[in-house]
Amino acid sequence: MSRWLHDELRIGEEVEIEAPNGTFIFSGKEANSVVLIGGGVGITPMMSAARYLTETGWSGKVHLILGFRAPRDFIFREELAELEALNANLSITVAMSRPGGEPGHGTVGHIDAALLASAVPDIASQRAHICGPPPMMDAVKAALVGLGVPEIQIKTEAFGTIKRDPTAKGTASTAVLGRVLFQASDTTAPVPVGATILDAADEAGVFIDNACRSGTCGSCRVKLVSGSVRMAVEDSLTEADKAEGYILACQAQIGSDVTVEA
Ligand code: FES
Repeated sequence: MSRWLHDELRIGEEVEIEAPNGTFIFSGKEANSVVLIGGGVGITPMMSAARYLTETGWSGKVHLILGFRAPRDFIFREELAELEALNANLSITVAMSRPGGEPGHGTVGHIDAALLASAVPDIASQRAHICGPPPMMDAVKAALVGLGVPEIQIKTEAFGTIKRDPTAKGTASTAVLGRVLFQASDTTAPVPVGATILDAADEAGVFIDNACRSGTCGSCRVKLVSGSVRMAVEDSLTEADKAEGYILACQAQIGSDVTVEA
């Protein structure tokens, strides 16, 4: 959103602001060590975790693995050197995909299975957090799974999302898989093939809060009253959420009729 703030927002315009959402957090309580993987500007949430774990003197090992195109893209370089000097548990690995002739350091290439395995010898037992462009996250997640990291131990935060205009009408298909009853709104809507419950809500004029539309922020959390859904991504649901029947409307695809609380 920073680009929009700089380029579009004008003095005098009003914006509505919400507190941050999501569960992409590592405070040191979630595991005894962690692998933090950032691609480009996806380094930003990793810096928050690295700073916090350093400031609090966390005793676990922190493997920070970063990918940039070239040395000039390596942001936070000086601060990372300071954190490394302060925190003996912090190890930093950097890969540059197109370093060119620029002076800088790091392995040449992308963050792949070989780099991950050499940077973190016991990687299969680690918890990993990934943030970066979606193709980078998909590739790194696949590499981690290939190295034996259980999917439940891999947390992702989308950087750059597919955002649908909530006022836009028109869905991908006219074939309908079932209908969704929005209980609180007393509205029923069809859910076409390829559409989610959030798409159906948009079409029907039912408001369900949303932001990332990629399953990572948790804004679109709604309670499923009846029926079942499939979700490609459910990273922002906690185990307690799942036990209580919450789903992510932006990810939920149905096979037959369902009811939700919205
Ligand atoms: S809108 Fe972010 S998880 Fe659904």
